[in-house]
Amino acid sequence: MALWGGRFQGEPSALFKLFNDSLPVDYRLFEQDVTGSIAWADAIASVGIISANECLELKNALGQLLVEVGNNPELIIVSGAEDIHSFVESALIAKVGDLGKKLHTGRSRNDQVATDLKLWCQSEGAMLVLKLQTLNQALLALAQREVDAVMPGYTHLQRAQPITFGHWCLAYVEMFERDISRLQDALTRANTCPLGAGALAGTAYNIDRHALAAALNFARPTLNSLDSVSDRDHVVEIASAGSISMMHLSRMAEDLIFFNSGEANFISLSDQVTSGSSLMPQKKNPDALELIRGKTGRVYGSLVGILTTMKALPLAYNKDMQEDKEGLFDLVDSWAICLDMAALVLSGLKVNRASALKAAQQGYANATELADYLVAKGMPFREAHHVVGEVVVYAIGEQQAIEQLSVQQLQAFAAVIDADVYQHLTIEACLAKRDVLGGTAIKQVQFALAQKYKP
Ligand code: ARG
Repeated sequence: MALWGGRFQGEPSALFKLFNDSLPVDYRLFEQDVTGSIAWADAIASVGIISANECLELKNALGQLLVEVGNNPELIIVSGAEDIHSFVESALIAKVGDLGKKLHTGRSRNDQVATDLKLWCQSEGAMLVLKLQTLNQALLALAQREVDAVMPGYTHLQRAQPITFGHWCLAYVEMFERDISRLQDALTRANTCPLGAGALAGTAYNIDRHALAAALNFARPTLNSLDSVSDRDHVVEIASAGSISMMHLSRMAEDLIFFNSGEANFISLSDQVTSGSSLMPQKKNPDALELIRGKTGRVYGSLVGILTTMKALPLAYNKDMQEDKEGLFDLVDSWAICLDMAALVLSGLKVNRASALKAAQQGYANATELADYLVAKGMPFREAHHVVGEVVVYAIGEQQAIEQLSVQQLQAFAAVIDADVYQHLTIEACLAKRDVLGGTAIKQVQFALAQKYKP
């Protein structure tokens, strides 16, 4: 039975019911709806709408329902209720009869759904923070192990200067730390309780909204009833934090897909996170990483979806807002599984040190070093840059690395070059020189690790 039958003489069409019902999506708010209902029972008991005994009976029935649905989650969906709020109320009435009909006094589904969803955001948000932290632990452990594994660093996907694998890992640690802070920030702002706002104008009963907020573990009540029922900033902010985090995950996935390619061969992925080809027996595809990269698209879709749904909506509640949940749920599920998967990929990843080192030695990644050497000998940097460019062209023609050219060959480009040049052209020297805060020198990476890593 619908919650709003009295005003109507005809039945809704089957198509309308299918279109309007949100139970197939919002069943996920069941626990939050029961928690909110228990707190609301206490609130209306405190102003004498129900007696202490009635309140106890309602709360017991709600507790029973929690257990029953826990044992048999199907109960929700087979009920055919309009939404999760209708389901809980009908189930309550089935248990305690007319008393169940008193619970909705002074409450609207508008403040109810806003409260349920914020409770859901708080608990799922806490879960996501943990997953981000676990991912960072995996990155830190890998950085610790590979602190001195040399590989080429890139700009424009051209080999630029040597870096260490540990340094690469810590770049992503920075990104995921910002993701944690963004998410926590969103959760702090969302830590306000809309219950008691009624349909839009505030409940007509003199309940203590501070006590109600505290009972539901919110930091405080919301302060304007119109805003309380129509605010979905928390959905937008979580979708935004999730989109930014997925952008980071997709970049990490892309780096690793490239590192794992036959062309680069800097890393090997574990059999646990790769799959074969049905046709080509030699293949081992980085599916886990490709799916992380791919799922980023649907997460962005959820962000754009909720922003567009909310655009220009008049105050206060509008049914459009029922569309907030499907995208958010999908986004949170996708983000969460990508975080888990990324941690699993990292935990089984092997660095192929020899080929990564070889790639760092090729591609003239020490050209900057030669330029710096010329600067140290008194040549202005711009001129040194030009000279080294010519050296590189010559070396390419000779199919030699810079350090394979003789002093005589090098002196043809700049007379100041001496035999002492070679010590500056080693990979070790390239790395060691980047000994500035945040640099790739092994010392600096170890310092950064010491700041963060607590094994
Ligand atoms: N199922 C609705 C939603 O998710 C609950 C609120 C309905 N409120 C209303 N006035 N029809 O938004």
